[in-house]
Amino acid sequence: MIFEKTVKGVKEQVKSWREQGLTVGLVPTMGYLHEGHQSLIKRAVEENDRVVVSVFLNPIQFGPKEDLEAYPRDIEADCRLCEATGAAMVFHPEVTEMYGENFTTYVDMTGVTQELCGKSRPTHFKGVCTVVNKLFNIVTPDKAYFGQKDAQQLAVIKRMVRDFNMNVTIVGCPIIREQDGLAKSSRNTYLSAEERQAAVVLSKAIAGGKQMLLNGEKDGDKVLRSMTDIIEAEPLARIDYVEMVKWDSIEVHHKADCPVLVAIAVYIGKTRLIDNFIFDSEI
Ligand code: PAF
Repeated sequence: MIFEKTVKGVKEQVKSWREQGLTVGLVPTMGYLHEGHQSLIKRAVEENDRVVVSVFLNPIQFGPKEDLEAYPRDIEADCRLCEATGAAMVFHPEVTEMYGENFTTYVDMTGVTQELCGKSRPTHFKGVCTVVNKLFNIVTPDKAYFGQKDAQQLAVIKRMVRDFNMNVTIVGCPIIREQDGLAKSSRNTYLSAEERQAAVVLSKAIAGGKQMLLNGEKDGDKVLRSMTDIIEAEPLARIDYVEMVKWDSIEVHHKADCPVLVAIAVYIGKTRLIDNFIFDSEI
């Protein structure tokens, strides 16, 4: 497996793959890889001749009071996981390689970025879109893989690709969960033993809400009220949002009469965790 730190190196390698007629998949990550990332890499390896995993802790998608400094890192373990899963290259640039002096161009999307995480993290998606745009230009992948755990991010990237007529297919992949239901996340490592137990309340609320919709409940307010009750019963939990929006325009919509995303963000202690499900009554 190739370990590359420069944009030039990635471009040269991809050019050589292209000359051999090979297809290229990209899995963008911020590192500290777990089974969730691994499932994206596996899928990418199945569907492409060569797979690039970018490991870049993107500073511009973190707000001033967020966890950039504390965010866990382990590039050696990440490389081992990538190699064992069949990736052809890990791209691990320095911040200066991605954002040189006088970097001033950003992708600032409206609409899809406004609700859910966009409310409490107002600059987050600007940072995500900008770095993903750069990664697409550097790697020029045929397909790029994103987890549904960050469902709003998936909708945002799909919209960016559509709006900018980009030549890449976005593949959304299912949420991978721990045995007790907690969605896998690099941020789960912040939780104390007590908080880890409390964190199960997110997937409990998700399962409860989903069951109501599956049972035929169409009233979003009732579903969201019941999910809120489940979360509020956990003393260590503090709700950021419990919301139902249209999938994939991310407009608030409290009726399950079209494909909807039901998404939650909950603080367990100081750690903010997210979870969601997509419900389509037609399926
Ligand atoms: O989902 C993530 O890990 C990040 O937001 C991404 C897509 C790698 C951009 O930094």
